[in-house]
Amino acid sequence: MPTRTQHETDDPPTDTTPESAPLTIRPTTAADGAEMWHLARGGGLDLNSSYAYLLYARDFADTCRVATVDGNVVGFVMAHRPPGRPRSVFVWQVGVSPAARGRGVAGRMIEDLLDTLDVDTLEATVTESNGASRALFGSIARNHGSEVVWHDFIRTEDFPDGHEAEPLLQIDLTGRS
Ligand SMILES: CC(C)(COP(=O)(O)OP(=O)(O)OC[C@H]1O[C@@H](n2cnc3c(N)ncnc32)[C@H](O)[C@@H]1OP(=O)(O)O)[C@@H](O)C(=O)NCCC(=O)NCCS
Repeated sequence: MPTRTQHETDDPPTDTTPESAPLTIRPTTAADGAEMWHLARGGGLDLNSSYAYLLYARDFADTCRVATVDGNVVGFVMAHRPPGRPRSVFVWQVGVSPAARGRGVAGRMIEDLLDTLDVDTLEATVTESNGASRALFGSIARNHGSEVVWHDFIRTEDFPDGHEAEPLLQIDLTGRS
């Protein structure tokens, strides 16, 4: 989960809703894929193809979430269960519109996902430079009385394009009440 700097993005923040506006969190539908792509593009995320967001929103709806305010998508989580690790959920990307950050949106989307899945482990990869994302998963671990455990996963030399290394984090969820 690397990020791009804001000057590399060209979509302006779209969330201008007041902080008090109620947040809705729900599984994705096929129609959410395009908004997820826009959010990733405007939010400094490592942008995947539009097809990837459309496919996840449609076929992985049970492990994806969007957060909406007044019907507008202000955040998304894109995740799947790795075929070889069916007791895990792997969070590929989480993004919140710049204007909605720092209000617990990402944390609430991930907790909503965990509430509805029968899994033992949360997994994600986070680059060393992504402090916000590391703070997010640290917070999730604490909420579950657990800790973040790191493993080598995809190294810089594995990427064809000099991409920053993507170490794997795992959070054991089995201690939660
Ligand atoms: C990472 C990101 C999803 C966090 O979303 P958010 O809705 O602002 O996060 P939350 O408000 O739920 O915060 C969750 C925790 O992380 C902490 N946190 C969030 N952003 C932080 C930051 N920039 N610096 C330090 N801590 C941060 C919060 O304090 C909170 O901790 P707490 O529960 O102990 O108080 C958001 O900053 C974002 O979209 N960043 C760009 C995309 C990205 O890097 N995505 C992850 C890689 S795919």
